[in-house]
Amino acid sequence: MKRFSIAIVCGSLRRDSINRKIARSMCALGGERLDCRIVEIGDLALFNQDLEGEPPEAWVRFRREIVAADGVLFVSPEYNRSIPGALKNALDVGSRPYGQSVWSKKPAAIVTASPGAIGGFGANHQIRQACVFLDMPVMQHPEAYLGQVKDEAFGADGLLVDGPLKELVGKLAAAFADWVELIDKNQSELA
Ligand code: FNR
Repeated sequence: MKRFSIAIVCGSLRRDSINRKIARSMCALGGERLDCRIVEIGDLALFNQDLEGEPPEAWVRFRREIVAADGVLFVSPEYNRSIPGALKNALDVGSRPYGQSVWSKKPAAIVTASPGAIGGFGANHQIRQACVFLDMPVMQHPEAYLGQVKDEAFGADGLLVDGPLKELVGKLAAAFADWVELIDKNQSELA
């Protein structure tokens, strides 16, 4: 069984982020097929085309880590019914210089989690909209708007405790591994 390297890009910079914990749980549950690492975005200078000639070290590091991955898992909160600024900045940093986007053709999944009822639906679809332009094949189903996610959903190790949410996240991990495998196979055949 092939194991795919997955870059996790988390839209929350918060230490106790529920989204980061969801990402870690998803990786633990899909660990046989997904070899995940969190790619940090908190140190990326705000995108400015004037910096493109001599890109900041963090931009270079970030782009290198995305290029090295077989797939990208976006896990994010919703801020004001939209994409958190740090995540939008990371998408922009990875998309340039023109013609050298690191996102192109990378299979992806988008998971949004919130203590609120709507599960970050708005942010989820705005990330998805950017991924269309970035030419990323994004897993369509199962959709992943995780609502009512509270701190109690996680144990002392920061991972999901047994229950329906853990079951759902396990299914998401399996579906994402299938998706990355399918895209990888198709891209290899077409190469
Ligand atoms: C929020 N939150 C929020 N929740 C939501 O479901 N829809 C929203 O539009 C917003 N807007 C919003 C804006 C800002 C600036 C903050 C700080 C928070 C609440 C948010 O879902 C909650 O704080 C989550 O716990 C944030 O995710 P992490 O950091 O726990 O991963």
